Amino acid sequence: MKVLEKLNKNISKITPYQPGRPIEDVARELGLDPDGIVKLASNESALGVAPSAVEVIKNFAEEAFRYPDGGAYQLRQKICKKFDLNEKEVIFGSGSNEILVFLAMTLMGEGKSVIASEKAFVIYKILSMMTGTEFREIPMKGLTHDLEAMADAITKDTSIVFVCNPNNPTGSMVTEAEIDKFMERVPEDVLVVFDEAYAEICLGDMPNTMKYFREGRASIVLRTFSKAYGLAGLRVGYGMGPEAIIQALEKPRQPFNTTLIGQLAAAAALDDEQFIKDSRDTYIQGRQLFEEFCEKKGLEYEKTYANFMLIKTGNGADITAKLTAKGVIVRPMAPYGLGDWIRVSLGKSEENQKFVDVLDEILD
Ligand SMILES: Cc1ncc(COP(=O)(O)O)c(C=O)c1O
Repeated sequence: MKVLEKLNKNISKITPYQPGRPIEDVARELGLDPDGIVKLASNESALGVAPSAVEVIKNFAEEAFRYPDGGAYQLRQKICKKFDLNEKEVIFGSGSNEILVFLAMTLMGEGKSVIASEKAFVIYKILSMMTGTEFREIPMKGLTHDLEAMADAITKDTSIVFVCNPNNPTGSMVTEAEIDKFMERVPEDVLVVFDEAYAEICLGDMPNTMKYFREGRASIVLRTFSKAYGLAGLRVGYGMGPEAIIQALEKPRQPFNTTLIGQLAAAAALDDEQFIKDSRDTYIQGRQLFEEFCEKKGLEYEKTYANFMLIKTGNGADITAKLTAKGVIVRPMAPYGLGDWIRVSLGKSEENQKFVDVLDEILD
């Protein structure tokens, strides 16, 4: 179509993000019973929605005709109290993903550069390309961020360094001591974004990264209700940082970007410590099962600190297709340059067992 000649020039270079396939989609295509399909492809909560949130979702169904409070008052109060922040130090997004979009609109553009590991959440790269920003993909140490190399890569035009911790898709972590050393080298005109989508269910020692912005450093911390709290379908994420930076990110935010029910469900889930504990216990068990399986089969894997694990199965696309055909949805890792690997989310014990049994069958 003629109008496509007027597409913004960066758009044509973008390969759209490929999310984990929905259960219904796979069921339709392969003629499978959706109830028999296990989805371990998007690092969703193994235990479903936090029970405290379920109640709120039901109770407020009839209020959904109203626009939400654009300022997310109730949720904001709870986050501010929990993390000892003032109201202007928090921003909400339709998932933390939308806050990444605000970052792109605010701090990316031609003539600027952005730094991240070469195998980190691919949205950083997509947003950089979309905005004509130079994206510097830094090789990792094994499958862990090389923070020294990331600091070395900073130049005058660098606006953002993304530190995804625990890192998606590798599951690896960097420690607080390593981040301290890295922060010493970051100039004051560079924003460090700690993307901590898995913080609450982290299976290692979660570094305290809020201390940097509390010390006045240019850094923000991104969190989400999608993973630990099981609210991926309601799309609520948040960013915390210095007031001046958060208020700059507020400018591109549309007035009703988070939903009424999403805000209320998130506010209820935030206190659900038992759910977080149960979730972590489930992930610890799942990780152990997958590790034992990999060791038995002689498969390489990356030690994970989040609710997913990278496994080197050989030809990840082919293995993914075979697993899908047998009702287990995982993610091939070729888009991350890991063609021989798959990423599998840690699910409920019966789901994990199904994955292990089916993969065992395929590999034999
Ligand atoms: C590291 C990381 N950041 C951000 C996101 C975005 O999550 P959401 O937009 O659901 O908050 C994800 C989701 O997979 C992720 O893994």
